[in-house]
Amino acid sequence: MQGSDQLIRVLGIETSCDETAASVVAFEPGKEPRILSSSVLSQIEEHAAFGGVVPEIAARAHVEALDGIVEAALEDSGVSLADIDAVAATAGPGLVGGLIVGLMTAKAVAAAAGKPLIAINHLEGHALTARLTDGLDFPYLLLLVSGGHTQIVLVRGVGDYQRWATTIDDALGEAFDKTAKMLALPYPGGPNVEKAAATGDATRFVFPRPMKGSAQPDFSFSGLKTAVRQAATAVAPLSDQDVADICASFQAAVTDTLGDRVQRALSRFRTEFPDVSAPAVVVAGGVAANRQIRARLEALCSKNGFSFVAPPMALCTDNAAMIAWAGIERLRAGLAEPDAFDFVPRSRWPLDSVSAPVVGSGRRGAKA
Ligand code: KG4
Ligand code: ZN
Repeated sequence: MQGSDQLIRVLGIETSCDETAASVVAFEPGKEPRILSSSVLSQIEEHAAFGGVVPEIAARAHVEALDGIVEAALEDSGVSLADIDAVAATAGPGLVGGLIVGLMTAKAVAAAAGKPLIAINHLEGHALTARLTDGLDFPYLLLLVSGGHTQIVLVRGVGDYQRWATTIDDALGEAFDKTAKMLALPYPGGPNVEKAAATGDATRFVFPRPMKGSAQPDFSFSGLKTAVRQAATAVAPLSDQDVADICASFQAAVTDTLGDRVQRALSRFRTEFPDVSAPAVVVAGGVAANRQIRARLEALCSKNGFSFVAPPMALCTDNAAMIAWAGIERLRAGLAEPDAFDFVPRSRWPLDSVSAPVVGSGRRGAKA
């Protein structure tokens, strides 16, 4: 292994949900980090017929694709396995079948090449991406809004995270996907709900704003889902305009509730870190693509004097460059697991081991 004052190149592997990904990232002191390659294979088509990710299908698809994706990432990077310093793989949280495929492959590659293995928490990958793309300094806030997670996390340092809010039931992306399914819009639901909402009347249905104004900092979306179902049932059969109006009203409700929760976190950050002169909020996850949500977050940040950092979409959604980068950050911080070859994949693995879990289960893995 090379010391922290030298060039570090890490191969990253990501298989926690429905993307099979591998990437090589390089870091050299005094220079900007470089993504030498990033291969991502989405399984959206395999899952579309089911309206959501099917764990067994995902695991099989990872088995079939991962070898080729790793090979492509190495080839595109121009770095041979012999010149890689370490292999970093997502070891949780996520769908356990996919995690096993990724971590076992990483162990095999690392063992065969005589390289160290680093087990990475997927959420840490998202949390540190803004340092890869924007060189952000600690501390900052992360808003992660994907199909599996909805969290606000204080990022204080490598391996030093504090979860300030999480969902007590569905993830936000999941709420978009379930709304789409109820309205017979295609999977993945988020982009289709957003598209339909563009021609809808957001005031026609008054949906609840779950947790808005609550002293508890968390999120909740399942009551909203029930309200959408009731509205859809009441006006069925649904015309295109009905669908558009429900989508617009739903989007307005989630934007309001998200804005309220984020405002709370911004105020808390100001109180806890009065000396941070350039505070920042980083967004990650597929829902961050939603224009209305993004506009609300940008407005909130600007009102509160925070900069709004949105890495390029390909690095906001699941990818392996963030895993390779988290590996580099851990190596540099001296925090790489010494015994990662013994690491067992964890479907639940909170980033913050101190904050108590708020809620348990879900098909898509850890939520809280
Ligand atoms: O981060 P991501 O690509 O994958 C994981 O969940 O790991 O996020 C996918 C989620 C899906 O639930 C999808 O419906 C949602 O992000 N999404 C959106 C939009 N684009 C993707 N939700 C709302 N508006 C969008 N434009
Ligand atoms: Zn993710």
